[in-house]
Order: sequence, then C-alpha cells, then structure tokens
Amino acid sequence: MSALSGELKTNQVAVPAQNITISTISQKSEALFDETSMRFIKIAISLSQEKDLKKLMNLITNEAMQLTSSARGTLYLVDRERQKLIFYVTNQLSFNEITIPLTPESIAGYVGVTGETLMLDDVYELSEELPYKFNKSFDQRTGFRTKSMLVVPLSSHKNEIIGILQLINKESENEIIGYNRTDLELINAVGSLAAVSIENALLYKEIENLFEAFVRYSATAIDERDPCTGGHSRRVVLYSVGLAAALGTFSQAQIKEIKYAAWLHDIGKIGVREAVLSKENKLTNTEIDVVRCRLNMICEMMQKDAYEQALQLMASKSETCEGIVIQSLKENVSRFKEEVANDFNYISQINVPGFMTDEKIRRLEAIRNKKYINSQGQAFEYLSQFEYENLMVIRGNLTNYERMEIESHVTKTYEILKHIPFTRELKNVPEFASKHHEKLDGTGYPNRILAANIPVQVRIISIADIYDALTAQDRPYKKAMPAEVALKILKEEAAAGKLDKELLDLFIAEEVYKLSDDPSTLAE
Ligand SMILES: [Fe+2]
Repeated sequence: MSALSGELKTNQVAVPAQNITISTISQKSEALFDETSMRFIKIAISLSQEKDLKKLMNLITNEAMQLTSSARGTLYLVDRERQKLIFYVTNQLSFNEITIPLTPESIAGYVGVTGETLMLDDVYELSEELPYKFNKSFDQRTGFRTKSMLVVPLSSHKNEIIGILQLINKESENEIIGYNRTDLELINAVGSLAAVSIENALLYKEIENLFEAFVRYSATAIDERDPCTGGHSRRVVLYSVGLAAALGTFSQAQIKEIKYAAWLHDIGKIGVREAVLSKENKLTNTEIDVVRCRLNMICEMMQKDAYEQALQLMASKSETCEGIVIQSLKENVSRFKEEVANDFNYISQINVPGFMTDEKIRRLEAIRNKKYINSQGQAFEYLSQFEYENLMVIRGNLTNYERMEIESHVTKTYEILKHIPFTRELKNVPEFASKHHEKLDGTGYPNRILAANIPVQVRIISIADIYDALTAQDRPYKKAMPAEVALKILKEEAAAGKLDKELLDLFIAEEVYKLSDDPSTLAE
C-alpha cells in the first residue's frame, strides 16, 4: 500500500539502516495498517449513522480533509435536473445552499461532467489549453491563496456521478504541497463509503419529502373543506413546533413526531359532513327560507279563510252589518299577520350561535306550540320538529347529534392514522394526534382520560389548537378574538386544571403565539 511505503521512506531517513529489521518494518506497517483500518471503520460507522444529508456532507468533508491534511474542502452534490452543483456553507445556526453551474469551465464542474479525477499542484499555473479555469474571485475577496487541489467524483451504485469532493491545499510542515497517490487512494476509499451514504441520505430525504408533502396537502385539503378553518393545521404546526422547541427537552426526531401529529390532528374531519363542519347558524339560509314561506302561506290561508267566513256571514245578515263585518275581518287579518311577522322576526333573531335564556326558550316553545287550522280542518305547525330542535340549541349552534359528529373526528383521526405504517421515530403520531381534545382533568373527549395518560406532546398540540381556534379569522361560531383575550381564556382553562399551566406560561413567555404573525413562518 502506498500509505505504508510512504511511512517507510520517512523511517529510513530517521533510523540507521542496520537497525531496521524485517520485524520492525512489519510491526510499524501493521500498526499503521491497524490505525488506518480503525480510522476507516470509524468513518464507515459515522457515515452509515448520519441520515441528515447536510450533516453527512459536512462529516465527509471533514474526514477527507483530516485524512489528507487539507486546509479546506468542499463537497458538491450534482443536481442533473437543474444542471447545478450544490454545496452548503455552514454557520452556527444553519446551512446555506450555494449553487454553481454544472459546466466544464470550472474545476468541480469539469469533474462533474467528465468523471475524471484532477490532482493539481498549483491552480494558478494551469495551462491555457485546459477546458477548465480556476476562479480566483474567492481568493481575491478573502486573501486566501488556493494552491494544490484534489478533486474526485463520487459515483452511485448505478455509476452516476452524484457528488464531487474537492480538497484544497495539502499541508505538510507548514507548507502547501501537492497531493500524491496515497491521498488519492485514501480519498477514493472514503469516496466509495461517502457515495453510498449520500445515496441513502438522498433517498431518505426524498421519501421524507414525499411523505411530508402528502401529509401537508392532505391536512390543507381537510382545512379547506371548511372555508372558515383555512390554514388551521399549518398554524397548529407552527405553534406546536415552536412550543416544543422552546421547551428544549425534545430531540429533533421527537419534534418531527410532534410536527406530523400537529399536521394530522384533524385528519378525521374527512369523515364529518361538510354541512356540519361549515354550519354558521342554527338553521341554514335555505332552512330559514322554508320557515318564512310556510308562515307566509299560513297568513295567506288565514286571510282566505277569513274572507270566506265573512262572505258567508254577510250573506246571512242584513246589509247594515256589512261594514262592521268587513272592519272586524280586516282587523283580525292584520293582527294575525302582525303576530306571525313578530314570530318570524324572533326566529330570525335567535337563529345565530349564542345562548338561550329561559325567557327565550319559553318564547320559542310558545311558537313551537302554535298551529293554524284551516277551514278544512287541516293543521299547519309554525315550526317542524327539526327546526325547533336546531333553534333550541342552548349554547352555540350545533345540536347534540351534530356536536357528537364533529367530536367523532378525533376517533376517526386515530382510525385513519393507525393504518399508516409510521417509522419507529414517528410511531406515536396516531396517539399524539388523536388525543388533542382530552383535558388534564378528565373532562375532554373522546375518552375523558386524565393528566397521567396525556403526554407532553399532546398537551402542546392542545394549547396550539385551542389558541388557533380562538384567534382564527371568521370561525362560524366564534368571531376572531384578539390574542390577549384568547390567552386570558387559555389561562382560565389552565387554572381550572384543563391545560398544562407550565407549557402555557412558556407559550406566552416565549411569545410562541406570535409565530403566525411572521409571514416567513407561513411560507410553504
Ligand atoms: Fe380537533
């Protein structure tokens, strides 16, 4: 191996020739071989464990730089679709993506296009005839002097170039020297491991992107069934992830699990009728029109019956009575119409979400008991049983049956999610998503479970869900509420033992609730 022969040459200078025995050479070779092997095993293990593509690229670059004593290094990903080379510049907070064209004019581009390896002693002294040039702009900007370079392609199992590893300025005893065959062999060996890891990470990322897009658009489609809850799931994700991050005790994988549970918490609404989800008042406009038409019809019937009665009366009485009969008839009809109009106005007035006082209930019951019996003895009720039951809703606008139907969405959420083969990291998503209406004091639904069985992740999503339900624009049964009022209600819920007080304090102290105010946090 070249690495071993390189080491032997150095030893030959330092140690007198007569002292070198076969066994010394063999021991040193073995030691070096063991060290290199161990190094490779460690690199292989770390590369196989890292699934995050950007961290993996960073890891490969650092290992390659250390193995070759390079001052700098860059790992480019080849994006054939966009014809670009991509690399990431790290700072403490994030990775910034930078791209350069995949063309043979640049050194990395040339390797990406041709698949050739380049070992350059001084990039400032490249022949004019070469198709690639060294771009000095970075050096000019920073004062760095790029000299030697080793640039190797990384190929997938299908022999496609998926990355370019570029190492710069090999250092030896404070000097920049050119790369040698040993470096090339080492980097080729690391490159094979790196290519497999990059391929796996890319595949993992693609699957994750696919799944995330599917989850995101499914949730958005559910939200949009009810125009009044548009964007709800997305904001619940923002608040939940924000609160989980503020808590600071969850790993990235756990935060991802919370994110998916938040995206999917209302997925069960797919099984709830749209008419119920988007119900604005106790009766719909069409249903209230039916009431109006029926009451008008009753008035017309009453007037017709009254005229007929009067005619019969007039026929049997003297002419002097005629004026009195007509006058009384008119008064009866107009009194009746006025009463019916009052009843209809009252019905319209209570046909909104709100609270029915005892007085309101009595008045509605009185209307419900009214019926008009026409001249043929047929009875016409002012209100049907369905209309009465809907108008009689004491609080809000949903009947018990409709409320149960809406509340069933959490059971449906669980039923849907339990059939999805989530990965081990996401195995709790069905539980976290379907418990978001449970309360710590056991008054929630569907199972009225107590605090001990409500994980922190669920408590986080519950706070996010309630806050958004209160503050969202144009909810059918609640107007948009200012943040302070919503937070006051949440505090009352926490004081009553329904929500986690510590989490709510953090939600407020860290201003997690303001996350949706920032348009950048709402970007796709
Ligand atoms: Fe919900």
